[in-house]
Amino acid sequence: MGVHQIRLTINGKTFVEEAEPRMLLSDFIRENCGLTGTHVGCEHGVCGACTVIVNGSAVRSCLMFAVQADGEEIQTVEGLSQNGELTPLQQNFKECHGLQCGFCTPGILMSTSDYLAKNPEPSKKEIKEMLSGHLCRCTGYDGILKAIQKTVEDNKETILIEGS
Ligand code: FES
Ligand code: FES
Repeated sequence: MGVHQIRLTINGKTFVEEAEPRMLLSDFIRENCGLTGTHVGCEHGVCGACTVIVNGSAVRSCLMFAVQADGEEIQTVEGLSQNGELTPLQQNFKECHGLQCGFCTPGILMSTSDYLAKNPEPSKKEIKEMLSGHLCRCTGYDGILKAIQKTVEDNKETILIEGS
């Protein structure tokens, strides 16, 4: 089987690259597009490290072939901060010690960003359920949970201040 030309957008930038039909999207993002913030752990959909956003939904990029993403719009962890400014979620990960080695962090940031955009006020239980799709071998999840809860609380305060 020959190679395919794939054109997609990552963090607003267009990439046109060739890939074999069996190439995973995670490898394509890292190797062909040079965006190594997307990490690859298990390569079979379990650890969540490779999570990116495809057309507005969090997706495990190791479970998708690059050819399936042809023409799609993707956001990776490199696209979160703008002009060197961390997003509130990233800032809270930093402040609440939501990471140690950082291997799991890009995937968790992408899932959480997508999740909070759709569910801005989740309960602690709901956040834990969302996090159950991600493996972290370092933190014990406590700092991660705190960082997400703080982001939710800060958002509520912002909404209250804007509404007053
Ligand atoms: S590398 Fe994709 S879920 Fe683990
Ligand atoms: S911070 Fe090391 S795996 Fe999560």
